[in-house]
Amino acid sequence: MATAMSDAALPQEYRTGSDPRTLRDALGCFATGVTVVTCLDDEKNPVGLTANSFTALSLDPPLLLVCVALNSASAAALGRAERFAVNVLQTGQQPASITFSTRVEDRFGLTEWSMGEHGVPVLMDSLSVFECARHAVHEGGDHFILVGEVVKATFEPGLDPLLYFRGRYRRLHFD
Ligand SMILES: Cc1cc2nc3c(=O)[nH]c(=O)nc-3n(C[C@H](O)[C@H](O)[C@H](O)COP(=O)(O)O)c2cc1C
Repeated sequence: MATAMSDAALPQEYRTGSDPRTLRDALGCFATGVTVVTCLDDEKNPVGLTANSFTALSLDPPLLLVCVALNSASAAALGRAERFAVNVLQTGQQPASITFSTRVEDRFGLTEWSMGEHGVPVLMDSLSVFECARHAVHEGGDHFILVGEVVKATFEPGLDPLLYFRGRYRRLHFD
């Protein structure tokens, strides 16, 4: 006997002109880690936002990229910064991911951080941290693509990543 399926269980489709939420949901099928991208603004105040658009780009030279929304409050500082850091989050840093993706008064007041060797804010207890020199900034629709040359990378071999899939935080559930 056939059983009724809810809409959510049916295959979804996006085409030009469809509701952009469907495209968002399609893109959300790509499971990612979570990062917080940080820099200093012109007044030397720490700035940062949560981003899962992080991609390893090149080993020689050592490049990575992250996509930043033009309408984010951090966009101006990140687009201008000579140096920035990508902090890859571990499971215990879900509060930091929420802090850096929502409107809170003082993101850095709520999160433990220190100044990195290359003059960029670094979040404490991150899974890995990439300190970067700006390599290029490319246009990308309503985002820009920030390409950094890695000048220092550190990582904690014993920690598990914070993951993001279908709009929700996740953890690895296998060894
Ligand atoms: C898991 C997750 C991933 C995100 N990835 C990005 C991203 O890659 N690029 C981006 O511009 N915003 C991304 N955002 C949204 C920003 O973190 C959010 O809009 C933030 O409030 C921007 O801060 P700002 O306006 O103070 O710069 C993401 C949010 C979450 C929760």
